[in-house]
Order: sequence, then structure tokens, then C-alpha cells
Amino acid sequence: MIMKKSIIFLTALSLTVCMFAGCKAAEANGKTESEKHRVIIDTDTGSDDAAALLIAAKSENLDILGVTVLYGNVPLKQSADNAIMTLETGGCSAPVYIGTEKPLFKEREEMISVHGQDGMGDQDLIHPNGKPQEKPAVDYILDTVKENPGEIEIICLGPLTNIAMAVQKDPDTMKKVKRLWIMGTTGFGPGNATPVAEFNVYNDAEAYDTVLRSGVPATIVGLDCQNETSGLSDEDLSKMAKGNEMGRYESKALTKLTQIYRKLGQNTGLPDALAMAAIAWPEYVKETKKCYGTACINNDAAYGQVIFYVEGNVYESMPETGEYNLEVVSKTDDQLFKKKFLKLMTE
Ligand code: RIB
Ligand code: CA
Repeated sequence: MIMKKSIIFLTALSLTVCMFAGCKAAEANGKTESEKHRVIIDTDTGSDDAAALLIAAKSENLDILGVTVLYGNVPLKQSADNAIMTLETGGCSAPVYIGTEKPLFKEREEMISVHGQDGMGDQDLIHPNGKPQEKPAVDYILDTVKENPGEIEIICLGPLTNIAMAVQKDPDTMKKVKRLWIMGTTGFGPGNATPVAEFNVYNDAEAYDTVLRSGVPATIVGLDCQNETSGLSDEDLSKMAKGNEMGRYESKALTKLTQIYRKLGQNTGLPDALAMAAIAWPEYVKETKKCYGTACINNDAAYGQVIFYVEGNVYESMPETGEYNLEVVSKTDDQLFKKKFLKLMTE
């Protein structure tokens, strides 16, 4: 009898322990910690980066280990302040690490600040409480990957200079990155920095070339993924302005970017949010093309163009490598993105 009682007790105990552990994970939105993507987000924190950070902050599929910032849409310090303020607005306490203030080899080029001087619509939104960490971003990336080989994914929303510097400093460690999720390149469409170059690549094409050649597997969301369905209309922005704190914050942050898009007669595109959707809301991606990619760094007119060799296509001049390590997103569910994004901003 004692034997039977002890088995029942142990079973009950193990069930309780299991349930408690499960309950704890379940309280974290249904996903166990081991099922989540363990991510570092690298960003130049403009208003569309902010939309991406808010998606990440609330995603049950992501465990944000840290955020690294760099120049791009705005100077480095502003990028850091914008990231900290946005994470605080999303209720996320992930640490922020300071990266580089300029490209690998050239000075930072002053370009039209489509997101406003502060990168967040010039609406006096940025009053962060928190401060960035002391450790430099590149060291944080390398230490985190070294301590978690094969587990860390990096979501890249700006120029790839931080990532390229990590590859240059310790290429063997960076080969242990599980995957890069990159907003960048024109995809299979036209550019925005020049007719053939997308802004993030154009800022530092040498960095892109370094990362593309590193062999780290990457999913690329190009500029061609944005369109009128996934872009925000005036009605969408009005819903956000009447929505929750994130919706009110983000709708203001998009003020300047929206002015640019309306001059073009278009809805407001959120390329970084689309890149975040690719990992946070995987059903958003309906098709990718396996490619080898190379960035143009020598020819001034084509500087920043990224040429994709699609696997299976035969070209008269084939690339010098068989490494088709890029998944370039080619079909997306734009209505799903808009529905989930507006839900996040209003409920
Ligand atoms: O070309 C669009 C990209 O450049 C986005 O990441 C935007 O934030 C800017 O960084
Ligand atoms: Ca960006």
C-alpha cells in the first residue's frame, strides 16, 4: 500500500511540477521559451523600424535578447534614443547596445530624412527613461552568438555595418549565427536611394557585400515587398491614432514618412515592419526564391545595387560560387499583414 501511495504522490508531484513549468511558459503566450526565435534586432530606428520593434515587442514567437543600433535614418545617438523610447512604449525591457556611427570605409552621407529630423515624425515623441548598455554592439553580438552557437537569429533593419564589423572581427563566430532576417535590397524591383539601390544597402554596399559573402544563411525582404495593400492609408492611420498607446505613438511617428508617400500618391510603406512580419508572423511569407547575391561596390552609377542569381536559372555569366544561401521573399500575404498590424495597434 505504501508503495502505491508513493507512486501516486510522485506522479501528482511530477504533474504539478510539469504543469507549473508549462503554466509559466503558457503565461508567456503559449510558446515555450525553447520554441521561440531567440533574436537580436539591429536597427537605424526610423519610423518604420519603430513599427517593426513594436511588432517584435508583442510577438509570442520572438525572445528579444537585445537591440543594437547604428546610423542610417538618423545619426547614432538619435537611433539609440528612438529605439529605447519605442521599446518602452511596447513594454519591452530588452537592452540596447550602441553600434557604429558611420559606414565601413566612407563618411556617412547626409540624405533626405524621410522620417523627419528625429526619425520619428518630429512630433516630440522621444523622451526615453532608459539608457544604452556600456558594451559595444559588435562585442555584444559576438559574445551572444559565441555563447549560443546555432541559436541566435539577427533581424537587420538598417545598413549592415554592425553585422559586417562583427564578420570582419570574428568570421568563425558569425558563421554560428542561425539566420539573418534582412530588410534590404530592392528585391526584384526598383530602388529608393537610386533607381537600382535600396537605402540600407546604398548607405554601405561594402558592408552588404561582406555579409552576403560571409555564407550566413539569410532571408531577405526587399523593397518590392511593400505595396498598396500592406501600406497604411489615411483611414488606417486614423484608426491607429484612436487606438492603444502603441497605435497613437506609431501614427504620430509616421507623420513625415506619410507626407512623402502621399506626394507619390501612395499608402505609407513600412518595409522594416514587413521584414519583422516575415519572422514574427511566418504565414505572411508565401514564397521565397533561393538566390546567390552580390552587391555592386565599384561602379558609381550602380553603387548599392544587389544582383540576385536565382537558383535554377542559367545565366551566360554564372556567379563564382554555388552558395545559394539567400531566401529572397517573392510572394506575401499583404492583407494578413495589415489585419495583424492594425489589430496590434488598436486592441
Ligand atoms: O529602404 C528602406 C529602409 O531604409 C528601411 O529600413 C528604412 O527604415 C530605412 O532604414
Ligand atoms: Ca530601417
